[in-house]
Amino acid sequence: MLFSGAMDGMNHSVVSEFVFLGLTNSWDIQFLLLVFSLLFYFSSIMGNLVIVFTVTLDAHLHSPMYFLLANLSVIDMVFCSITAPKMICDIFKKHKTISFLGCITQIFFSHAVGATEMVLLIAMAFDRYVAICKPLHYLTIMSPKMCLYFLVTSWIIGVIHSSVQLVFVVDLPFCGPNIFDSFYCDLPRLLRLACTNTQELEFMVTVNSGLISVGSFVVLVISYIFILFTVWKHSPGGLSKALSTLSAHVTVVVLFFGPLMFFYTWPSPTSHLDKYLAIFDAFITPFLNPVIYTFRNKDMKVAMRKLWSRLMHYRKIS
Ligand SMILES: *[C@@H]1O[C@H](CO)[C@@H](O)[C@H](O)[C@H]1NC(C)=O
Repeated sequence: MLFSGAMDGMNHSVVSEFVFLGLTNSWDIQFLLLVFSLLFYFSSIMGNLVIVFTVTLDAHLHSPMYFLLANLSVIDMVFCSITAPKMICDIFKKHKTISFLGCITQIFFSHAVGATEMVLLIAMAFDRYVAICKPLHYLTIMSPKMCLYFLVTSWIIGVIHSSVQLVFVVDLPFCGPNIFDSFYCDLPRLLRLACTNTQELEFMVTVNSGLISVGSFVVLVISYIFILFTVWKHSPGGLSKALSTLSAHVTVVVLFFGPLMFFYTWPSPTSHLDKYLAIFDAFITPFLNPVIYTFRNKDMKVAMRKLWSRLMHYRKIS
């Protein structure tokens, strides 16, 4: 339904493609950007693939926490593949374009996957809450059914969040202006190109995206404070251990939400700052997740080492 709407939108509007200005015209910076984005893109994909394989293949890691982590890695891989490959291919092109449908698709998936990641981060916080505050009931509360329920719910919320915004956008008239001062399609910029007053729509997008990002951030911060407070009350000595477990989660949450909240709640997104923040979210956050979760986690490191030696062993035999 969504995409047939986009088709209709194309029929009665003049604009059939949009043009990206990219980040800069300087050859040196473009070259740097190419190296930087290739490096981070492939490291993100590799790092997250390693997590998925390690968790899937190692029976010791078949627990709710690691299943959620592996799912987060899948989401990260999808997330950084929405805008990064096209941006990398476009860097040296003089004329960077994207079709109307391509633009809507980019927006749809980045919002759907982004919101899914937020809800999944909340599920991971809940998982830590149960593990730390109700350890005896951990396996009954976080049953496989519950994990699946969290997953399905987060995807449903993501898709609904994204569709609700786009349903209004696909029928807007686009009559001429088609320049994006950016390297990918985003909703606030797309609305400013429509040939009609979109103030109400812009407000709706700010509320919808702002609410889901600020809301999830607040829920996460409160739940982490609550966990630490509970630990401190029951065994003050355990606080430092809980802190070291949770610091990875908190780091990811701050790095993921910081740029997003700025992006959707800052009143005038005309500064160039948001373009650079967008790069941060597109490339660095998906890359940081594996780094933070794997290299600081003993079980994960042991499992990766075992997997590696098994791989080497097979190679010797064959
Ligand atoms: C995602 O979570 C589900 C439910 O816990 C699990 O069965 C599945 O294996 C996970 N996906 C990955 C890639 O680990």
